[in-house]
Amino acid sequence: MKRAGLKRRRVMASLVPAGAGIVVDVGADHGHVARALGAIATERMPNRMRRLPGDDEVAWVVADGLLPFRRVDVAVIGGMGALTIAGILERGPRPSVAVLHAQDDPPRLRLWLAEHGWRIEEEALAPEAGRYAEILRAVPGEETSAGLALELGPRLLEGTDPYLIPHLEQLAGWLREVVLATEGRAADKHARAAERLTYVEGALKRRR
Ligand SMILES: C[S@@+](CC[C@H](N)C(=O)[O-])C[C@H]1O[C@@H](n2cnc3c(N)ncnc32)[C@H](O)[C@@H]1O
Repeated sequence: MKRAGLKRRRVMASLVPAGAGIVVDVGADHGHVARALGAIATERMPNRMRRLPGDDEVAWVVADGLLPFRRVDVAVIGGMGALTIAGILERGPRPSVAVLHAQDDPPRLRLWLAEHGWRIEEEALAPEAGRYAEILRAVPGEETSAGLALELGPRLLEGTDPYLIPHLEQLAGWLREVVLATEGRAADKHARAAERLTYVEGALKRRR
């Protein structure tokens, strides 16, 4: 696998249930996840299909999201923005399981999933580019968590991911900077960052 994002892609592959049926890796890049899972690799732009020389293990399809498929059991959609992922899921067909990674705004993706009939079943972290990528597995159903627990990762906060404490510490450090930078300037942003910081510090205290 290509080094950048290697750990994250491994975690994504590990969250796909065994014997899952038709698995589609959307926007598959070099097809590493598709190859590891025996999945179908898709790419919207043919010039981005970076097939490896001599590789005929992976079936490549030029596709916008999941649109050409009649049925998809598992969709793997990573390295994209939350709204792009939401659009792909919305256009369907609706998979039975979705393994997702929003690189820009994981809270936004979780909120969207909860509002559109998805339950977050499992979550995991992977170090990537000096931060912790947030990966989740969603299934159709009702998500019962809400508020900051939902935004920050309900199954992460309940679980024992080995990267949870460093991830929360990093988040708290960044929120402290936002709180300081917005003091006396941007009241809404300041209040929101302060509320999140209190929540994250509370979660850390419960863990230590
Ligand atoms: C940054 S790469 C991510 C590669 C890989 N999935 C990963 O997790 O590292 C995003 C790829 O998704 C493709 N993409 C974006 N929207 C798509 C869509 N609607 N259907 C198929 N591919 C899409 C882009 O062309 C790009 O090649």
